[in-house]
Amino acid sequence: MAVFEIPSKLIEALRRVREVAVLTGSGISAESGVPTFRDARAGLWSKFRPEDLATPEAFQRNSTLVWEWYAWRRELVAKAQPNAGHLALVELERRRPRFTLITQNVDGLHQRAGNRKVIELHGNITRTKCFEEDVAVETWTETGETPPRCPRCGGRLRPDVVWFGETLSPEAVERAVTASRSCELFLSVGTSTLVHPAAALPFEALHHGATVVEINPDPTPLTNHAHHVFQGLAGGILPELVRLW
Ligand code: OAD
Repeated sequence: MAVFEIPSKLIEALRRVREVAVLTGSGISAESGVPTFRDARAGLWSKFRPEDLATPEAFQRNSTLVWEWYAWRRELVAKAQPNAGHLALVELERRRPRFTLITQNVDGLHQRAGNRKVIELHGNITRTKCFEEDVAVETWTETGETPPRCPRCGGRLRPDVVWFGETLSPEAVERAVTASRSCELFLSVGTSTLVHPAAALPFEALHHGATVVEINPDPTPLTNHAHHVFQGLAGGILPELVRLW
């Protein structure tokens, strides 16, 4: 039995809308055992702040450390399974052809769950690119050196993620903003709504007349502006919302 009420006004809106946009943050992967971004320093990594690891300067200072932190996170993610929240968004995409899933997560769990239309604003740790050429690298020779070297230019390899201080793909941002402005309903799930430009997307939707729904156990800068707020876990709330949709 759901322990939260879904207002009939929202149920009516859910059934009426044709175009839906969803923004997710690391909170949707928390129930899969993937630490949220601001907790992603469990264990031996706890003495580092993400800001000290996820920057080009940190990579220049100590590329081995940064590569090993991402190797640890890749292992975590490989063991993780999509949870009921991820699967609810797959069902939602199946039911609403005009559906856009925008994620800040780099764990690839939305695609593994089965979502196809995913905009990865911050990249994906399962992909690798050359630090010097900024071009994707699929295969390389393991020589035991970390980070490994680019087979084309010999430069160091790095994860294909956006680091602090780096720019996002203008094409990805453009698609995310367009979807946020044209949707009739915007779901913001499991994000602290602190990091721009992703954090501005729910407000774009609001300003363009969409119904905005937030799912997060904690308050965020969006909470006082959203039409509906569910202070709880995505794994429980999203499947219930989609069941009634
Ligand atoms: P945060 O760690 O900042 O926030 C995670 C949010 O998820 C918090 O507000 C939690 O309350 C919430 N949360 C935790 N468990 C949840 C659950 N089971 N269901 C729903 N919500 C839950 O992670 P993000 O908001 O994703 O960017 O961080 C955004 C960006 O900040 C990251 O993508 C990263 C970082 O800078 C880059 O690395 C470029």
